[in-house]
Amino acid sequence: MPALILDGVAIARHVYASLKPRIAALVQCGVQPGLAALQIGGNAASRLYVRNKVRACTEIGIYSEVHQLDADCTETAALTMLEQLNRNPRLHGVIVQLPLPPGFDVRRLLQSVAIEKDVDGFNWSNLGGLVDGHGGLKGLTPCTPLGVVTMLDHAGITIEGRHAVVIGRSPSVGKSMALLLINRGATVTVCHSKTPDLTAHAFRADILIAAAGRAGLVTADMIKPGAVVIDIGINRLPDGRLAGDVTFAAACERASWITPVPGGVGPMTVAMLIANTVTAAERTAGLRAPSAVV
Ligand code: GUN
Repeated sequence: MPALILDGVAIARHVYASLKPRIAALVQCGVQPGLAALQIGGNAASRLYVRNKVRACTEIGIYSEVHQLDADCTETAALTMLEQLNRNPRLHGVIVQLPLPPGFDVRRLLQSVAIEKDVDGFNWSNLGGLVDGHGGLKGLTPCTPLGVVTMLDHAGITIEGRHAVVIGRSPSVGKSMALLLINRGATVTVCHSKTPDLTAHAFRADILIAAAGRAGLVTADMIKPGAVVIDIGINRLPDGRLAGDVTFAAACERASWITPVPGGVGPMTVAMLIANTVTAAERTAGLRAPSAVV
């Protein structure tokens, strides 16, 4: 039987529906959640992602601002902008859209976002909360891994006790994904570009998560029959089409569940950004106690 599709657009719709009463409760208290995005340079894909985030804010009633700086601006100008956004009480979330143009110190900029407004979850404090296993006091979880776990939960896919294999080790996606799954009771293998015999590792996965950013990396023979396959890759093919890391059509014949690209993890990442912004606003308004990471 071909794999069932984990439809990120549909699941994100459920997430937004669950956020609406929380936003209404905030508005009742005189607080409209607010999100600011800082974008540096003219990366076309980034502009599109930022537009999607702004559209999601508008549709659900979250205030949003986009601050565009030229690629040749100074790092000081970017840091000054972040300080202003950190201080602005209208804003509960602040993100620095990645990638940054060459020459910028990504770490320095990401660490300059106020911890309680770090709705991307990229600050070391928030990443450290994931290592700690309960998120610390103000833990905000990186959006893509949080979106994946939310999808699995929504579909009723058990995480605890399963063997998950994560391909990719970036701090914000691969490593955070692995930690989140460990916190949920999975046994996790992390593979990356230096892993010999990727196929042997991948084939042992009950839940296979591809986050390498290489189109066609995961072929059907790497998938254990009945595995859940989550494709986090977003790759632009030479003909302009988008593709994930997984060869989708063939993988559908092996997997029990699979995410498409586009329309899988991508919409969930945006939905989790909105959810984190609402959570951050609730904490500011005293409506929500500092809570645990998933
Ligand atoms: N660029 C690609 N994905 C992301 C993301 O989740 N957050 C930010 N800030 N930039 C990105």
